Amino acid sequence: MCSIIGYSGNESAAPVIVKGLRRMEYRGYDSVGVATESENQIGVKKGVGKVADVNSKMNLEDLPGKTGIGHTRWATHGKVTDTNAHPHPSNSGKIAIVHNGIIENFEELKEQLKKDGYDFKSETDSEVIANLLQKNYNVSKNVKETMITTVSELRGHYSFIAMFEDGQLAAARFHEPLIIGVGKENYFLSSDVLGFIEQTDDAVYIDNGQFVLIDQKNMQIFDFSGKEIKPQITKVSKEFADVYKGDYAHFTLKEISEQPETIFKAGENTQDAIKVSSDYLKHAKNVYLTGSGTSYNASLVAKYLFSKYAKIKTESIIASEMQFSPDSIEPNSILIAISQSGESADVLEAVNIAKKANCKIISIINSLTSTLARESDIVIGMNCGPEIGVAATKSFTSQLIILYKIIQELSIEKIEINFQEISTSISKILEEHNEIKKLANEIKGISDIYVLGRGIHYPIAIESALKIKELTYIHAEGIAGGELKHGPLALMDSNVFVIIINPDDSTYHDTLMSAREIKARGAKIIGISDKNSEVYDFWVKLPKTDELTYAICETIPIQLLSYYAALEKESDPDYPRNLAKSVTVK
Ligand code: F6R
Repeated sequence: MCSIIGYSGNESAAPVIVKGLRRMEYRGYDSVGVATESENQIGVKKGVGKVADVNSKMNLEDLPGKTGIGHTRWATHGKVTDTNAHPHPSNSGKIAIVHNGIIENFEELKEQLKKDGYDFKSETDSEVIANLLQKNYNVSKNVKETMITTVSELRGHYSFIAMFEDGQLAAARFHEPLIIGVGKENYFLSSDVLGFIEQTDDAVYIDNGQFVLIDQKNMQIFDFSGKEIKPQITKVSKEFADVYKGDYAHFTLKEISEQPETIFKAGENTQDAIKVSSDYLKHAKNVYLTGSGTSYNASLVAKYLFSKYAKIKTESIIASEMQFSPDSIEPNSILIAISQSGESADVLEAVNIAKKANCKIISIINSLTSTLARESDIVIGMNCGPEIGVAATKSFTSQLIILYKIIQELSIEKIEINFQEISTSISKILEEHNEIKKLANEIKGISDIYVLGRGIHYPIAIESALKIKELTYIHAEGIAGGELKHGPLALMDSNVFVIIINPDDSTYHDTLMSAREIKARGAKIIGISDKNSEVYDFWVKLPKTDELTYAICETIPIQLLSYYAALEKESDPDYPRNLAKSVTVK
């Protein structure tokens, strides 16, 4: 997703901005740009590529001045070109903007601005903000008035920062994140605390419908009507600064490897929230679960657990689908929203729909300062530390652990979950990474992989297929074992690999039978199990344990396999093509 950043202080702005953009690289992007103000002149440099590459080609850091803005773009409106990259200057060159989000009425605004004599260089929706600000500023000659008029004319989801030729910064937030970092003698504006955490851990979270004016000495926050708001400074967890790869080649590998520890932190210090949530859930008329991508897959595991262990019927709804069936949300129900970032636009919209139906919102979130955290009645923290790799790994297992803790509270025949055993089993699997590396070499040339599981292992198969797709670009699909004969068997031949999730539990014999049926059609079989079988061409050994522990452990070899296959295919596992870590637009 796009990242925006702004700086005003007593240091040279461009190097600070470039550093901040590098910290936010994980959000995913295709082009980069910086603009600074010096002696009432705005200079802009921008281009397609990674921060380091564009910086070394164009010397972004050499732009002069102590005020600046920067951007990493993830194309939504207009191709990936130098011209479409941000910052966008207004026609007069006296204002430049960076923008994250979507301006829904940009065509209308553009038409009107063209009639007023403005021309447009880019294909983006964002460029209208620069010219609209210019038009309004020409009338009022006052930055605050300009912002009030401009935000009243924009429709959509946005956060933007505008830099004026006198070095003032103005930024607005409407359904996209915007945070102020407050340093000793400087101010930062950013989409993410990672943009400034090295300089300051004092932050002000701007609310929806607010804008901020900053110069080198002052900061003022207003609501969209112009009423001043008192800033509330929050201390940001220093943990956010801990985002270096250390000895690991990639964040993704670091994050996969952290799981023996992160599973102990999931839900830690929120035991009360887990108890209160369980109480609500016990008495709820209806329980819905929602999330996107991996977080949605965690909700599918939860659905299974609620029904099997607590006899509570739940419904899992993909967050982006909620708006198409809002009437299926019964009033006064409970919605469990699962999200690593707490910023996924689809999840926030689903929560909004549920709140309109007077539902209570229980959230499972990693980023406790996110919008979702603020929109929720109860928040349970994953506490797994920043997840930078675009593919969700440790956040998934943390989500499952929290769901297990809730189930433990709710279970009718009390279940005991051995978290130490889960951690030890994950460590054992991680030790076998060399075997999995060899397997990655086997699958790198394959174009289709299927992952098969039954019961609780079916949602894990779906999640595994998502990991393979994202990291290796190999087509992958999760299959419920019993569905094989209802269609997918037609796809089985010697060109495909099938990963069979087959631990020794109640699903074992049926799944082994599925493996035999597939093998008979010539496909290669990778068995993930604590028991070897002659049907497997490759065996990935799981430690012997129980159903709940298996479900967590069996995801680890597939995360590793996807990571190593990405390396084999020479693609970047941390930043898969076309994807972004936090999808804050619909
Ligand atoms: C998959 C992945 C995405 C996210 C999805 C939801 O590896 O990373 O599918 O799971 O975009 O993100 P959050 O959990 O931040 O709402």
